[in-house]
Amino acid sequence: MNQNKSEFIYQNGSVRKTKFKENIHIFRCPICTAGMGIYDFKDILCEKGHSFNIAKKGYVNFLLKPVKTEYDKEMFYSRNKIITKGFFDPILEYISDWIAGKSDRAHPKTMNIFDAGCGEGSHLGQIIHRLRSKGVSDLQGVGIDISKEGIWIASKDYFDIIWCVADLANIPFRSKQFDIILNILSPANYREFARTLKDDGFLVKVIPGSNYLKELREVFYDGMDKQTYSNDKVIELYRKNFKILDLQEIQYRRMIDKENIMHLIKMTPLSWAATADRMKQVFDMGIDQITVDLSVIVGQKNK
Ligand SMILES: C[S@@+](CC[C@H](N)C(=O)[O-])C[C@H]1O[C@@H](n2cnc3c(N)ncnc32)[C@H](O)[C@@H]1O
Repeated sequence: MNQNKSEFIYQNGSVRKTKFKENIHIFRCPICTAGMGIYDFKDILCEKGHSFNIAKKGYVNFLLKPVKTEYDKEMFYSRNKIITKGFFDPILEYISDWIAGKSDRAHPKTMNIFDAGCGEGSHLGQIIHRLRSKGVSDLQGVGIDISKEGIWIASKDYFDIIWCVADLANIPFRSKQFDIILNILSPANYREFARTLKDDGFLVKVIPGSNYLKELREVFYDGMDKQTYSNDKVIELYRKNFKILDLQEIQYRRMIDKENIMHLIKMTPLSWAATADRMKQVFDMGIDQITVDLSVIVGQKNK
């Protein structure tokens, strides 16, 4: 974050909305695809009159109808706890180094970084923070997620990032706007990614490897074929759509205490189908180390 909280509190609500005005050129109407303007710091609207309110919290909801999702407030709260405890730090550091290596410090220009399926926003917030501490300062972060609960937490914590509730299948931004698209542990829409990424931009996708959270997987999927997992098909699909420049497997173990094991269980879809008994069983097992096994794929559009 480049803005301190107390400084923000002294300013009026429109400050939170200024980032929309400054970046209004990147938006496109999700209904008719026309360009958008901003009215009185309150609404983003297109020339045909389709209008989307900027919430007090500083995000815009671009969904055309409400969407039911299994990602609820509790899950994002737990993801937030785990991410901000540093659970994903080696991954975020790898991505930040990669992006910093691509920034042209001799000819600085604003780098637009878009997190597609950003959840509660901490990955994007931390990557931007890390980039700034590496001397890459001219950045604009943009995050979308289909879950209002996720975006609500994100907009509370990171003021200078543009947050929107929106569907990956209908991204409310004009074509060729982004230098980097991040897609971390979330579904992909390669058609929309190819449309919104600049021709020389990079798509950074993070996917689980076969040992990701294996200590939990072994208990939750005991006796089922889901106990083992391969990401081959996901990589194949990426390769069909984008040219892979770099594929890095990152594996490490993290100590975990009792409080955080519960957050870890709640943050993952692994627990969605689990009974209360199975959840308690995992909690009582006294797991104190967890394996993180993720692959970071970086690619560019096929020319
Ligand atoms: C496992 S979570 C990962 C969230 C975040 N990237 C993280 O690593 O904490 C998957 C996310 O994808 C989002 N998602 C699923 N389908 C989506 C869609 N069609 N459009 C936008 N977001 C979507 C969910 O709401 C959820 O936040």
